[in-house]
Amino acid sequence: MDSSRNKNQILSSLEEHRKRLSEKSLIELFNNDPDRGSHFSTTFGDLWIDISKQLIDSTTIDLLADLAEASKVNQFLLDMMAGSPVNWSEQKPALHTALRASRDSKILVEGINVIPSISETFEKMEDFSQCIRSGKLLGATGAPITSVVALGIGGSNLGSLMAYKALSNFSHKDIDIRFCSSIDPVELDQTLDGLDPETTIFVITSKSFNTKETLVLMENAKKWLEYSIGIEGMSKHLVGITGSREKATNLGIEETMIFDLPDWVGGRFSLSSAAGLVLMISIGPTEFFHLLSGMKEIDHKTLSEPFESNGTLLLSLIDIWNRSFLNYPTMAVVPYSSQMSYLPAYLQQLMMESLGKNIRKDRHGFGNSVGSVIWGATGTEGQHAFFQFLHQGTDVIPCEMLGFSNSYDQALQGQQNSLFANLLAQTEALALGSSTEKEDLTPDRKLEGNRPSTVILAPKLTPFILGQLIALYEHRTVASGVIWGVNPFDQWGVESGKSIAIDIELEINEISSSETMTKRNSSSEKLLEKFKIFRNI
Ligand code: F6P
Repeated sequence: MDSSRNKNQILSSLEEHRKRLSEKSLIELFNNDPDRGSHFSTTFGDLWIDISKQLIDSTTIDLLADLAEASKVNQFLLDMMAGSPVNWSEQKPALHTALRASRDSKILVEGINVIPSISETFEKMEDFSQCIRSGKLLGATGAPITSVVALGIGGSNLGSLMAYKALSNFSHKDIDIRFCSSIDPVELDQTLDGLDPETTIFVITSKSFNTKETLVLMENAKKWLEYSIGIEGMSKHLVGITGSREKATNLGIEETMIFDLPDWVGGRFSLSSAAGLVLMISIGPTEFFHLLSGMKEIDHKTLSEPFESNGTLLLSLIDIWNRSFLNYPTMAVVPYSSQMSYLPAYLQQLMMESLGKNIRKDRHGFGNSVGSVIWGATGTEGQHAFFQFLHQGTDVIPCEMLGFSNSYDQALQGQQNSLFANLLAQTEALALGSSTEKEDLTPDRKLEGNRPSTVILAPKLTPFILGQLIALYEHRTVASGVIWGVNPFDQWGVESGKSIAIDIELEINEISSSETMTKRNSSSEKLLEKFKIFRNI
């Protein structure tokens, strides 16, 4: 690794290298190096990460390693984990790793060790979830709570929803857990269908306690409760997870029913915080802490593994290579597991809210190609929907496939084998095209191949392994932000749309006076006018 060169020099070398490498196909790369499958894969924690079907060679890896070093990724991650204000636009730390650090660590924010308050919150979460799991938590009428409805959106929903679904085999069988995030009234209606207010609690997660969708959901939930159990006992059915106790108590949540979400945890990085309460209720504290241990393992490995076996850095740099050098604007995320069906949505928020930015601290010749569009679906569904485009479409879309070797149930291993056979077959066809098939193919049937993919393979979908995967995605995203020079922890773009919506809603509801009404562009004016006309039909 050559650390003497600066970032711009390395970027130029990578660009030169890209031109040379573009003359080689994946077939040639595999033929030239019969052991490419081991040379470009690594064990990382319990995961096997194979990047050998990416359009890279050993020079690419060397240059990418130089880029990581010149970008000081490791130092940034160390600073992040130590509590420095790495979120530079908001002057805040991003300390999600403290949530899974050893209980005897000392991590200071403004001179105060955050570990004791984290332990306190976890103890409270543990007590609360055990109470529900053992049937001891009683509602206002004395009936045991058996249903939990999680209200929240974005980072206050997607992490716990994804993990809840992923670990459904570990769920408490007698607790009905449901999620609702949309302001569309149909969603709450459907979520509450068949539930009894006497036995239901709402867990409202909102770091700001200011998010319109969540507040509307909470109001509607309160009306639903009030109708059956009255205002008096309602607070027994409302739990708040927030960074703003004051706002939550003002809206009727009792102090004792609030779990703190520290300001230094970003929403999309918050699964290991109190935002994981619903998951803890579902899988129990022991399994929840296994998940945190898995995360901790990857926190440690991300800092300590050399580049060649550092799964976090390798994946981050492959993302950069594909986006900024090979110019592929999107990446498909394809888990071969129904239980991981929310992974694409979760990663969409994690990676696109973190990296969808054009304001950079430094300008290092990346042009405008920062951050990728993340999308996808489970392998089985995807194969019968968008895979045709992946194989023969006019655009190349790098894919990331996720597979598990063992089924949750030994008796179903046959189906697990089929899932993996499909995963492997697709990556082979993407990389090598129809070259391996014997017969002469008509042009319609021919697959050109040379389409890159990564495979992440894990032994089994357990809390410990899911924790590893989540931390891997978190750190990879942060590492990409550091290399691209964007702040992975803010989201000013989203905030601006939110405030415009508030003005428009006042206008739709005819609350704003004609003097205060904003003069809009002709498109928005016309749409508002049409909306009002349609509303009266
Ligand atoms: O979608 C934008 C966003 O600001 C996310 O970053 C955040 O996770 C979500 O809204 C919800 O915010 P809160 O937890 O404050 O309700």
